[in-house]
Parts: sequence; C-alpha cells; structure tokens
Amino acid sequence: MATFRYVSQETVMISSGISPTHRQYNGIHSDVAAGDAQRNRPADRREARAGMAKEHGKHMKRFKIGIVGLGHFGRSFIELFKAHPYCEEVVLCDLREDVLKEQAAKHDILRAFTSYDELLRSDIDGVAIFTQRWKHAPMAVQALKAGKHVYSAVPAGVSTEELDELVKTVEQTGLTYALGETSFYRPQTIWCRRKFAEGGFGRFVYGEGHYYHNMASWFYLPFYDANGPDWKRYASCPPMWYISHSASHVLSVTMSRFTKVSCLGWSDDHEDGLFDRTISAFDNDFSNQTALFRTADGGMVRINEFRRTGMGECRQTIIGTQASYVEHVNPNHGGVSVQQQIDGSEAEVKDSAQSRAVFSRITWKQDPHKPDGSYDYENAQHWIKKVHEDLTHIHRLDGVVITEENRGALPPEYIGRKHLGTGIMHDVQRLPKEFVGLRNGHCGSHQFLVHDYLESMQTGKLPPNHVWIAARYSAGAGVAHESSKRDGELLPIFDFGKPPNDKECLDPLVVLRD
Ligand SMILES: NC(=O)c1ccc[n+]([C@@H]2O[C@H](COP(=O)([O-])OP(=O)(O)OC[C@H]3O[C@@H](n4cnc5c(N)ncnc54)[C@H](O)[C@@H]3O)[C@@H](O)[C@H]2O)c1
Repeated sequence: MATFRYVSQETVMISSGISPTHRQYNGIHSDVAAGDAQRNRPADRREARAGMAKEHGKHMKRFKIGIVGLGHFGRSFIELFKAHPYCEEVVLCDLREDVLKEQAAKHDILRAFTSYDELLRSDIDGVAIFTQRWKHAPMAVQALKAGKHVYSAVPAGVSTEELDELVKTVEQTGLTYALGETSFYRPQTIWCRRKFAEGGFGRFVYGEGHYYHNMASWFYLPFYDANGPDWKRYASCPPMWYISHSASHVLSVTMSRFTKVSCLGWSDDHEDGLFDRTISAFDNDFSNQTALFRTADGGMVRINEFRRTGMGECRQTIIGTQASYVEHVNPNHGGVSVQQQIDGSEAEVKDSAQSRAVFSRITWKQDPHKPDGSYDYENAQHWIKKVHEDLTHIHRLDGVVITEENRGALPPEYIGRKHLGTGIMHDVQRLPKEFVGLRNGHCGSHQFLVHDYLESMQTGKLPPNHVWIAARYSAGAGVAHESSKRDGELLPIFDFGKPPNDKECLDPLVVLRD
C-alpha cells in the first residue's frame, strides 16, 4: 500500500516505488512502496492511456485537474476524474492535512497541496471546486484569472455581485466554467426538458422546485468535519443561498430566468442552537424559507428551501397550459443503491423509484371546431379528454445494463456490465467506457458532470451548465434571502445575460430565452 507522510507545507520530496528519482512537490510526502502500489498504477496507466489516446484520435488533449475540497462530497469525484481518458493527472488540495493524506494514499495521488494559491501556481489545466457553499464564486474567479478552467460544485455564487464578477471573468478569459448542477441530470428534469422543448407542456404557467434536507440528515457531520470546533457558526448558512438545485428543476426545463422575488423565512428555535443569530456567521435565524418568483416568460415559480422539516429529498413540478408534470414521495422507495449495484447484493425493497410521477395533459376526443372554423368554446367540456401517463419508471436508477443493442462503441466484452446508478433517461452511450462499473451519485449525475466538464475543455464547446445558466440558477439566492429579512418585500433580480451567439453548447437543448 502507498504510505504518505506530511513533511511541510512548503516543499517536500516525493519518492515513488515506480521511479527511483526524487521529485520535488508542494504538499505531502509520498513513500509509495513497491507491490500493491505498482499494480495498475502509473506505468500501467500510461500504457492504457496511450491506447486510449489512439482510440480517441491523436489530437486528444489530456488535462491535469486539481480537485479542491475533499469533504464528504468532493472526495467521491476523485475516482471519476482519475478514470476519465481526458485526464492525465489528478492533483488534490485541501486545508486539512489529515484528509489530504488519507485521500492521496487511497487514490494513489502523487501531488497534493494544502494551499489553493500554490495549486493555482502549479501546471494544472483546470480545477474542480468542492469547498463550502459560500466560497465557490471567489475561488472560481481566482482560478480563471490564473488561467485555469473551472468546475464548481453548486451554488455558483450567493450574491448578485459575486455572480456578476464570475460571469464577467468567464467572458473575459474564454475559459470553461462548468457548474456541477446535479439536478440538471435528474431523470425527471431530463424528461421535462425534452417534453418542454417539443412544446408538450404548452406555455409555461407555474413550477416548483423544493429542496427538503433536514439538518439531522447528513448535514451535522459535514459542517462539523469541514469547519472544526466553530462548525455551529456556519451551519446557519441561509437556506436560500443554496437555491441552485430547486431553481434548476424549473429553469433548466424552461430555459427562462427569474425577474423578481418575494420570500418569507421561518425563525428556528431548535435546541441544537444552530440558527441562533448570536452565533451565526451569517446573522441568520431562518432554517426554512419559501420564495415566489416571477419569470421572464410570464410564469411563476415557488421554491422551498427547508432545513428543518419532516420531508426529505427534492421535488419538482412543471405546469403548462396544456400539460403538467407532478411528483410525490414514493412510500415504497428504498431500492437498489449504487453500493448494492457494486456489491451485486439484492434490493430489499420492491420499488427503487424515489418518486411517483404523473404527466397529465389535455387532449381532444374530437375536433373542437364548428363547421365555420370557429372554436366551440361553449361545448369544449364535451370534447376534451384528460390523459394521465405514469412516469414512475423513469425514476428507477437500477443501472443500465449494457446489451448488444445499446453498447454503442463499447467492445463486446462490456455486454452484461452496468453503468451504475443510471436509468432509462440517461444517455449512457456518451460516457467513456472507463466509467462502466464505477460509482455514480445523485441520480446518475456525477459521471455526466465530470464527462461534460472535460468534454468542454476538449472541444471548446460550452458545458450544459455553463456560467450564464449557472448564474440564473443562483440569481435569486441573495435577493430572496434579503426579501425574507424584509418580510417578503418584492425585489428585482439581475439579468446576467446569455452566452455569445457563436458559442455552441454540448447540449443542444440548452438555449437560454427570456
Ligand atoms: N448534489 C450536489 O450537487 C451536492 C451534494 C453535496 C454537496 N454539494 C456541494 O459540494 C460542496 C462540497 O460539499 P462537501 O459536503 O464535501 O463539503 P465539506 O464542507 O464537507 O468539505 C469542504 C472541504 O473544503 C475544504 N476547503 C475549504 N476551503 C478550502 C480552501 N481554501 N482550500 C482548500 N480546501 C478548502 C475543507 O477543508 C473541507 O475539507 C459544498 O459546496 C456543497 O454544497 C453539492
């Protein structure tokens, strides 16, 4: 096994069982022993990658990516970046030396930094930022100014000012900026986006994006781990600052934007004291917030960001003049997890769909026009028919099994293996073969996020969640929170514009409109 020893924050030696030469790096010291560490390690990888380079064409560029922030979420992306054929090297960065050492050893990483500034001074091509949610925009701007491409976990930013600076910096540098918006790739969002683009909803009327995440459900520990003894000060981060998932549920379907908002807050009094304004780093006592937005296409959107609630998970609603998509908790949920898909163990619960979903639309039993061609409004109730389509099956993420029919460019020996954590809405054929059988997360999104970032760097095309749509997702964050502090005052939301007309996007359905 690889063993790591931290030497100093400035300059240390790395010795490797692969090469007898000592090389100087910033960060941590690696004594990579022979044996396990060499199995399928750098030399093998180089060979394998030479093969991949041929396969992807001789002009394929390969990138060095610095992953910043190795908390519970960030660390789950190391394996995917390492496996991707466009990735030459993964470099790690975290303020916490213990975590850095542990993750570098686990993933056989040769370079690691405790200083973000040092990481940006190194020869990496791009960063992937997974630090706390209120840190992303300034760190992204710093990376872009240092000439690095950027992948950022959500949210893109928490205030109009920092989002404006982020968009302007992307415009000035022309570098890739990809937001890691997992909700964009949720099966129901993909389904609604396609249906909306083909006119299946009619004109947009109303949408809902709800993110219900109780503090007790996977929030105490990450805040504690990442912020240390001071963690209670930071756990009160205003819920509306994390609006990106909920906003994306609607805006990445309709491609419109928010123009104004009225928001109310719910003052917390839980015994854990997290939302006590006297200790809050954000002067915030709201653990639950509800906002109502006007959209530029004349529609309305309600967003709930709740951190103290009996509910769990995300919810999405899209209502148009002709059809609606509505979902509810599936009480039978509890099916096959990605871990079970890796282990091959059986699911214990009958239904693996997180939600039950219905698409309802109005159609006609017969032509509602009179013989003179005018519309028979008075008798419309006799001609219309309501059709309900059960979409629960699109929520099942049992993994797509590779077959002769769907294997695309994959070699025949991949038949029978799985794209883990994916479902029928996922276009798995565009993922690299190296991702087959690897961990996935958040409704199949992780692998698409990594791939689309690197594909954007490779091709120069915009990633689906480019900076202009990312700014739209979070445009209401700071404004909604401010509105809640003013008891619901209606406040305007800034328009961050659209990408240049000559910039092609990897996803042809991402065409921003008003
Ligand atoms: N579905 C999703 O898209 C999803 C899910 C989970 C988390 N997230 C987001 O991803 C981000 C990471 O989540 P997490 O739970 O891993 O966070 P975390 O708070 O557990 O970890 C953050 C890490 O960043 C490190 N860090 C902070 N500042 C740094 C700096 N300047 N330089 C280097 N390292 C620094 C911390 O030491 C810590 O290890 C958060 O912003 C979170 O909101 C998104």
